[in-house]
This record gives sequence, C-alpha cells and structure tokens, in this order.
Amino acid sequence: MEMINIALPKGRLGEAVYARFKAAGYPCPAIEEENRKLIFENPAAGVRYFWVKPSDVAIYVERGAADIGVAGRDILLEYAPDVYELADLGLGKCRMCVAAKKDFRDDLDRTLRVATKFPHIAARYYSARSRQIDIIKLNGSIEIAPILGLSDVIVDIVETGKTLLENDLEPRETIVPISARLIANKVSYKFKHEQISRLCEKTAPAETIR
Ligand code: PRP
Repeated sequence: MEMINIALPKGRLGEAVYARFKAAGYPCPAIEEENRKLIFENPAAGVRYFWVKPSDVAIYVERGAADIGVAGRDILLEYAPDVYELADLGLGKCRMCVAAKKDFRDDLDRTLRVATKFPHIAARYYSARSRQIDIIKLNGSIEIAPILGLSDVIVDIVETGKTLLENDLEPRETIVPISARLIANKVSYKFKHEQISRLCEKTAPAETIR
C-alpha cells in the first residue's frame, strides 16, 4: 500500500495534531524520539510525517510534496492555496484580531497604519469597511509595533490574550475565528482517496468533515 505523506506544522499545534493522529491509528514511534530529524515514517501504519514551518504546510500540500497537511485557517485565508479543505480538527483555536494601545483613538480622517504578518487578511478586512490603511508587513513580535510608534494597530492572532496584556495592548475587533484545518492535495485526494478519507474520518470530528 502506498504511504500517505503528511505535512505537520512544527511546534505546539503539530504536537497536538500528531497526538490526535496517533490515537486514531497512525502512530510513528520514531517521531516521539527527541531528535532533529524532519521526516519520519511508519510503513506498517501507511504514514510518512514531515515537520515543516507552519506557514509552509499549504505550499507542500498545494504542490503535492505532501498529500495532506494541517494548517491554521489564518494561513489558508492569507495565502488561499489551491487545496481541498477536508475538515476542522478543532485544535489550535484562536482568533484573528485588531489590537491597539489602550489609549489609541482612531481618527477616520487619517490613514490607519496596520502592522501584521497577514497583509491580505488585513487588506480585505479594511477594504470591506472602506478604511484607508497603510500595511506594514512584519514577520513576528508584531506587538512591539504600536508600542514603538511604528503602527497604530496590529492585526494578529490572539489565543489567551496574554501577549497583548503583557504589552499594554488590548483587542479591539475580532476579524475571524481560527482553528486547524486538515487539507489535501487535489490530485492526491483523487488517487489516494480511500486512504485519505479514512484518515479524515478517524481524525476529524464527524460534523466538521466537508
Ligand atoms: C502568536 C501571536 C501572538 C501570540 C498570541 O505568536 O502572534 O504573539 O501567539 O498568543 P496569546 O494570546 O496566547 O498570548 P506565535 O506564538 O505564533 O509566534 P510569532 O510571534 O513568532 O508569530
């Protein structure tokens, strides 16, 4: 039987996803040994796992280097990869928010400076509100931007809200709720249909399968 190639997001979310897959009958003992390897396989269970940067999962799946993968809805909304979204795994729940310094008051006559890792999501959100913005694309530690006066607001992921709180920022608007989605390469979905749909049924809550 051909193996399913699975791209997992490196980090906390990926660990939770692997635990779910393991419990569903797709274990891979090698992955649990602490080392720096990035590819692991268990031919008996028919799976090969790769750890990739969370924002790269969709690229591997879109181009067929992985048959399936797990990506946050934030990544899918930002990059709009040409993949099938099979189910909501209900893991990695958080929300995309606009946040600002507690004393920030928006002046509608001025262009709003928005710092974010998600320029497309931010642009779409403000364009739907006909709000003129200047996007400042950053790659991390977004919370620092309003503190240093680089931006007026940020568009970023909020999970517990601790990062905002500890940096004297507050959430102002929720743009969209986020969770981890199981995605599939379109060609793989056709040719490995049975294996992929079995894995999907075993790992995703039934009511979220599309
Ligand atoms: C995300 C996000 C916030 C933090 C929010 O960062 O950008 O900084 O998590 O979590 P909280 O509401 O529970 O405090 P991530 O850990 O993905 O790292 P990054 O800043 O490098 O993107």
